[in-house]
Formats: sequence, structure tokens, C-alpha cells
Amino acid sequence: MTKITLAERLERVPPYPFVVLAERVRHLQERGVDVIRMDIGAPDMPPPPHVVDSLIAAVRQPEMHGYPGYRGTPELKAAFASYYQDRFGVTLDPEQEVLPLIGSKEGLHHITLALVNPGDIVLVPDPGYPAYRASARLAGAEVVPMRLCRENGFLPDLDTLSPSVLRRAKLLWLNYPNNPTGAVASYSFFEDVVRFAQKWGVLVCHDAPYTDVTFDGYTAPSLLAVPGAREIAVEFNSLSKAFNMAGWRVGVAVGCREAIAALLRMKSNVDTGIFLPLQHAAAVALRTTSREWIHARNAAYAHRRDIILDTLTRLGMEAHRPRGGLYIWTRVPSGYTGDTFAMYVLENAGVAFAPGSIYGQEGKYYVRISLGVPTERVQEAMRRLQNLTL
Ligand SMILES: Cc1ncc(COP(=O)(O)O)c(C=O)c1O
Repeated sequence: MTKITLAERLERVPPYPFVVLAERVRHLQERGVDVIRMDIGAPDMPPPPHVVDSLIAAVRQPEMHGYPGYRGTPELKAAFASYYQDRFGVTLDPEQEVLPLIGSKEGLHHITLALVNPGDIVLVPDPGYPAYRASARLAGAEVVPMRLCRENGFLPDLDTLSPSVLRRAKLLWLNYPNNPTGAVASYSFFEDVVRFAQKWGVLVCHDAPYTDVTFDGYTAPSLLAVPGAREIAVEFNSLSKAFNMAGWRVGVAVGCREAIAALLRMKSNVDTGIFLPLQHAAAVALRTTSREWIHARNAAYAHRRDIILDTLTRLGMEAHRPRGGLYIWTRVPSGYTGDTFAMYVLENAGVAFAPGSIYGQEGKYYVRISLGVPTERVQEAMRRLQNLTL
């Protein structure tokens, strides 16, 4: 019998943390526990109905079932370019500066493989979305964490990075509105980042899937709106959170044309594009979804956020009030780590939170609570939480 041994590169990354958590949840569910999943970062509400209709109509067309091509359809690229123009005031060349992705996660990985050599440094936020780290390790790079802390508004302090690190740094990852902290970045922070990247010759990868999930009248800017950014930055965006289309797997990379060309060269050797009806319906979503629809959806998240914050305050748990993103990032009560607290709440209240350690060392004493849960389930989860002895 063939003996299966893992490649060294796979040995460098643990199983994706959410896969492990999902296993534990499944065991409880098998025992009949009604688990409320506040660990998952996915919208619970449906996409705009007219977008679903456009997908159904497109699927019925016989010519929509062939290979879709590698670069994305002209219709979808034009729709992303118009969206960036209208939403952020950023003008993009749809052919050279826009590349549709099979969800943005795919692009985060492939750009790393396309540009990073073993021994290079990749700068990642800590806490941060685990895929940046995993892709860097799969590429054989050294991961250098950039600490995000409350005192700095969960923005990295770029001045603390040493010249010896920066000389070897190839990519710098940012993500605003931020997962998991809910922090947002100002335009002037992005200006500083662009100047910094120009000085050190590092490519900024701004992962921005939550730009349209914002609260309290806040509007998130694009890094690419800063003059000069498109020469040194790529921004990743996605329909997953903006239009409640996480399962559709449609995202985009926009910006620096050399980086986009490298990403295309990498991914065209790996995948063969997005199903044509999905590309068409994604273009419809981008072109025609009203701001009112987005605001109403965001108001539902903000309402849930306030219910959760209210409970956390009553329990004496310190939490940042997010103006964007899909999460509340809260410090756990003393005596717990994020891991032990998440396990305690899961086992005793049937409520799943994501332990902060999933996002890096800085998350050790935190858990992340998702807003992508129906409001009545949020209320029920908070009732259960208040009945626990903490
Ligand atoms: C920060 C961040 N980046 C990327 C992704 C992946 O999004 P997509 O569905 O576009 O692959 C997520 C998903 O949760 C995320 O939180």
C-alpha cells in the first residue's frame, strides 16, 4: 500500500483552525445540543433577490456552460471598475488592473505564491486573518507579525519594523475594516502606508472584503484612492460580505498591474475561472444593488452588535465597538484564555465563539463573536451567556 507522507510545505501549516472548531461543534450537535454558531464569519441573510433571479436566468442559457476563460468576463471586469469608480472614486483599467477571483481567499494565496520566495519576509497583522500566515508559510517565507493593539486603534505601528526586516520584506498585509478587531483605517493612515511602501519597495496587499459592511454612518475608503497607491498596492475585494454572496465565491484583485499580471500567471496554471452565470450575476449585483439595500442590511448587523455589546458590558467584558466588519472582538474574563473561555461557553451554553488564538498570539485572551447570526438567535445566545457563572 502507498504510504502517504505530507509534503514539507504542508507540514508547515496546521489544519485550518475553523475546520477543527467545526469538528467539536459537530460532536455536540450529534449529542443533541442546539449550538448557536457565532464563530462563523458568514452572512446569514440572502443576496438581493434580483441578483438571484439573474443567476437563474443565466444558468438557463445554453451558451453559459462552457469554460469561462482565465481573465474574467469583460462584463464583470467593467462592473468591478465602475463599482470602484462610483464607490471609492478610483479609476481602474478593467483589462490590466482588475482580475476576478474564485473568492478573495484564492487570490490572497496565489499572489503570495506568485511573488514570494523561500527566505523572504511577509508582514502580517496579529491578530489577523489566518490565511495570510498560512500562504506565506506554504511559500516558504518567514512570517513577521505586526502587532495590532487597542492603544493604536488596531493599526500596525510601521515605525517599529526594523530596516533589516524591511529589506527582506516582500509583502505587507493590511485588512480594514478589520477581521477580527472591527477596527477601521483612515485615509491618512493609508497615505502613510503608501509613503512607507514606496520607501521600502514592499508590495502592500490590502484585503478589503468588509468595505461595504460599516455602521453608524461610517464609509470605508479604498487604499487605492491614495495617489501612487496603484504602483505599490493590490486591493482584494469580495462579494461574499458586501452582497451576502459568500457561497458564490466571487472576489477581485485590483491595482498594481505587474502584481495582477503575476497573479493571473499563477492562477491560470491552477484554475480555469468562474462559472459564467456567476460572473454575470455578480456583475448585476455590482451594477444594480442599491445603497439602501446595503444600508438596511448593515443596520441589522448594527442592531445585533448593540445587543451583544450590551450583554458584554453587563458581564464586565471589555469590547471594542466596531464601525465595520462582521465581528466583535472581546477580551475574555480573567482566569480564562480565549481557548478555555470559548470551550467553556460552547460546552455549557451551546454558543460557539471563535477563540482569538486562531488570529495570532495577540488573540490569546480574546474571542471573536460574529454578527452573521439571526437576531433572535443572537438574543438567545446572550441570554444563555448571562446565565453562565463566569
Ligand atoms: C479578512 C478576510 N479576508 C478574506 C476573506 C475571504 O473572503 P472570500 O469569501 O472572498 O474568499 C475573509 C472571509 O471571512 C476575511 O475575513
